[in-house]
Amino acid sequence: MKVYVMVGAPGAGKGTQAAILAEQLGMRHLASGDLFREAVREGTPVGLEAKRYMDRGALVPDPVVIAMIEERLDRQDAAAGVILDGFPRTRPQAEALAVALARREAQVDAALYVGVPEDELVRRLSGRWVCRASGHPYHVVSKPPLVTGICDIDGSELYQREDDRPETVRARLEQQLAPMYDVIDHYTELGVLVAVDGTQPIAAVTEALLRAIAHPARPAGRSEAA
Ligand code: AP5
Repeated sequence: MKVYVMVGAPGAGKGTQAAILAEQLGMRHLASGDLFREAVREGTPVGLEAKRYMDRGALVPDPVVIAMIEERLDRQDAAAGVILDGFPRTRPQAEALAVALARREAQVDAALYVGVPEDELVRRLSGRWVCRASGHPYHVVSKPPLVTGICDIDGSELYQREDDRPETVRARLEQQLAPMYDVIDHYTELGVLVAVDGTQPIAAVTEALLRAIAHPARPAGRSEAA
């Protein structure tokens, strides 16, 4: 099973790129945030617990996240390979993922870091609209839908996420950047991190990621971007 993980700050474009890559590479896109939002909508115990953290821009505790992702890795649709989007978000999650994958005779083949400076992250999150059916992301300026308020892909209604309110965006950036750098360090140490400039247009970021996947050994680091 091939495994790529998307790493990046809130709003960096992980979801946008993971969806495109999954389509092009024939892999399953697994987004931890989408799984939590689904659980919140369904009112499951995991959803109720996760909501308490998501509403204040905090990370959901590691054991809850790890159990949820492990369960998804065992589903049939993950067998062709997965692109993990939003997971791992902390070093313990990255270590737990390595153990879980080793049990399935797999490993992280590449960690794809999309770097974007903080002021651009705020601009992206405040202009984002996502669809109710599948969370497909749009942006009022950089990626408007063909018909206002309607998803181009599945025709469902577009809405603004609760945690994209300005005060929650600030809290997400304050609380989530430090653990993200721990994850970057973890994959740098393993030699599988590739960093791309996420400030480019969406298609150029995709091209850079595809090049990085084809040449996974290229050196990378934090760069100046968040
Ligand atoms: P999650 O849903 O994962 O949110 P996030 O990481 O904050 O990431 P986002 O979905 O906000 O952004 P993105 O990077 O996917 O950007 P997007 O492609 O949409 O998590 C939500 C919450 O769940 C967390 O806060 C936490 O509480 C909890 N959680 C989830 N996973 C967890 C974990 N592992 N551990 C603990 N807690 C967890 O793009 C953003 C906007 O920019 C869009 O409008 C898009 O159209 C636009 N855009 C994208 N690329 C470009 C570009 N190149 N140029 C211009 N605009 C662009």
